[in-house]
Amino acid sequence: MVLFQLNVKSAIHGIVSEGVGSVMVNNKVGISSGGRAANATDVWATPWDLIQWVEAEFGQLVLDAAANKENTKAPDYITPEQDALVTPWLTEYTPEGTTWCNPPYGRNAVKFVIRAIEQVNNGNCKRVVMLLASRTDTKMFQDHIFPNASRVHFVKGRLKFGGKGPANFPSVIVVFDKDHEGDAVWTFGKCEVKEEE
Ligand SMILES: C[S@@+](CC[C@H](N)C(=O)[O-])C[C@H]1O[C@@H](n2cnc3c(N)ncnc32)[C@H](O)[C@@H]1O
Repeated sequence: MVLFQLNVKSAIHGIVSEGVGSVMVNNKVGISSGGRAANATDVWATPWDLIQWVEAEFGQLVLDAAANKENTKAPDYITPEQDALVTPWLTEYTPEGTTWCNPPYGRNAVKFVIRAIEQVNNGNCKRVVMLLASRTDTKMFQDHIFPNASRVHFVKGRLKFGGKGPANFPSVIVVFDKDHEGDAVWTFGKCEVKEEE
């Protein structure tokens, strides 16, 4: 565990604190507090082939805003102990890069969506890409995602999380972009990187 003092930007992959105190900085090479969530589904890892498609489509991931050392999809990550709903989604790279967030499912998912929109609007993140259960009848979609997203991609078929069988719900990729105005672009399809012929 490494502690950074207030408003000191780490030279390499630091997460910068907005408030009083200090913040732990995690990166793949070393340091983590790990994490334990309430439900097993809360820690279901995103399939790597989906991440490949996300990076090809939306840019290299510089921060995973909901992760632990074992399942992070980016060099920097925020753990449950740090709490992404409190810790700013800010590193040296996030104002120009792509932040990833596959939040714990259930009631708290909407809080991560609201937090992502806030982090894009305040300039901490240029772009946030989220993986969510596709429940388009919810307030999360109707009040927050549809009015703010730049892209909504409905995933064809069912994802297999963490090496398990197909999920029992459909998934959607939602993108928030700084300075986006107007309606989202809506797409549908498999999330596969095509092999070069
Ligand atoms: C669905 S898993 C996604 C894991 C991984 N980031 C991925 O995409 O494969 C959600 C992750 O969020 C973490 N988490 C839960 N609450 C959190 C919080 N308040 N702040 C940051 N991470 C949290 C869980 O421990 C879990 O690792």
